[in-house]
Amino acid sequence: MTNHFKHHVFFCLNQRENGEDCCMNKGAEAAFDHMKLRVKKLGLNGEGKVRINRAGCLDRCAQGPLMVVYPEAVWYTFVDHEDVDEIIESHLINGKVVKRLVIE
Ligand code: FES
Repeated sequence: MTNHFKHHVFFCLNQRENGEDCCMNKGAEAAFDHMKLRVKKLGLNGEGKVRINRAGCLDRCAQGPLMVVYPEAVWYTFVDHEDVDEIIESHLINGKVVKRLVIE
């Protein structure tokens, strides 16, 4: 069986109420928008390539913001757009996990 996408990335964009820890309060949406745009600009999006999707809560709220890259099931956190760019360049393009941003 082959994968429809080479890499499928899920971003938690969940907003929790009452000031509880959540990815939306830690810049997840800006990072999501940046990654989608960058992947498109680089021509990486599409069948057999990369897909970036929104996700609901991934149940690791205190460790956010979070994305998971499949099929490797690598969980990343990130601080700024440079981190997102590094994940694109290293993992999505070159297949090399960005260890400093991985959460176990
Ligand atoms: S809000 Fe992102 S993991 Fe729960």
